[in-house]
Amino acid sequence: MQTFIEKMPKAELHVHLEGTLEPELSFALAAKNGVELAYKTPEALIAAYDFHDLPSFLSIYYAAMHVLVDEDDFYQLTYQYLTKASSQNTLYAELFFDPQAHTSRGVSFDTVITGIRKAQIDAEEKLGIKSQLILCFLRDMSAESAMGHLMLAIPYLKWLVGVGLDSDERNNPPIKFAEVFAKAKQLGLKLTMHCDVNQSNTLTHIEQCINDIEVDRIDHGVNSLESDMLCKLIKDKKLGLTVCPVSNQFVVQSLTSDEIHSMLKKDMLVTINSDDPAYFRAYLNENLVALQQEGKFTQDQMVTLVGNSFTAAWLDEQTKQRYL
Ligand code: HPA
Ligand code: ZN
Repeated sequence: MQTFIEKMPKAELHVHLEGTLEPELSFALAAKNGVELAYKTPEALIAAYDFHDLPSFLSIYYAAMHVLVDEDDFYQLTYQYLTKASSQNTLYAELFFDPQAHTSRGVSFDTVITGIRKAQIDAEEKLGIKSQLILCFLRDMSAESAMGHLMLAIPYLKWLVGVGLDSDERNNPPIKFAEVFAKAKQLGLKLTMHCDVNQSNTLTHIEQCINDIEVDRIDHGVNSLESDMLCKLIKDKKLGLTVCPVSNQFVVQSLTSDEIHSMLKKDMLVTINSDDPAYFRAYLNENLVALQQEGKFTQDQMVTLVGNSFTAAWLDEQTKQRYL
C-alpha cells in the first residue's frame, strides 16, 4: 500500500510556503544574511519543535521567517518545496504565502512574490510540476492591512489564483474580512479560509465562510461534521475541504481518520494535504501513508481522496482532465 500511495500522481491544495522552510535551509540563509538563530544546529532546532496547539506553532513559524530576506531566498524556499513535492509524484500544487509576515519586517511585496514566481516557472519547466499561488491574509492583523496588501497585489494579479485567511482564529472571524474578500472576488480571485480543527467558535466561522463570504473552499473544516446543516451545505455546494492529518494530530492527538471516513461516507469533497511539512516533519506522502495506516483506508478510498484534490483544484476543466 505504501508503494501504491507513493507512486500515485498527486495534487496538494493546502501547503504554506513558509511552512516548507527546512532547518538546513534556515541555517544556510541565516549564515548568508547574518541572522542569528537561537539554536546551534538544525537537529537542535527540530528538537525544540513542541507544537500542541495553533498558537504554539505560530510563534515558532513566524520567528523562523527572519532568515528570508531577498528575492533569491524566496526562490530557494519555493524551488526546494517544489523539488520535494515533485519527487513524491505531486504533479500540481496550490501554494499559500503570507506577505504580511514579510512586509512587517521590511521585506517588500515585490521581493517576496517575484522570488516565488521565478521558482514556480523554473520548477514547471525543469521538473514538470505545475503550481499556482494563493495570497493569505493574517487574520490577527487588521482588515485595513489585509486590504492594503490586496491593493499591493493588483499589479501581480496574473500570478495569483486566489486569496486565503490564516493565523490565529481567536476573535478573528471570517466576517472581519468580508470587504477584503468581496473585493478579491471582484478581481477574479478564488476564495478560501482556514477553519482549523477545534478552534474557538469554529462552527460559526465555518458558517460565515459559506454564507457570508461565499468561499470556494475551506481549509481544514473538520468540525463541520458536528452540524448536519453545515455538512449538507458543503456537500451541496461541492466545497473542497483541505484536511491536514499530521497537522491535526498536534491539536487533537489523532490523524482525524474517523472524521475523514465520515466525510467520504457523506460524499463530501475531502482532500489530504501537508500544511507546514517542514515543521510537522511530514510531506504529502507521509500524510497519506500515516492516514491510511491509522484509518485502514482501502486502495479505492485512497484513490478517491487523491482524485478529490484534482477535482477541488482551481484549474480550468480542460487542464484538470489531463490529470484525472
Ligand atoms: N493554521 C493557521 N495558520 C497557519 C497555519 C495553520 O495551519 N500554517 C501557517 N499559518
Ligand atoms: Zn494551513
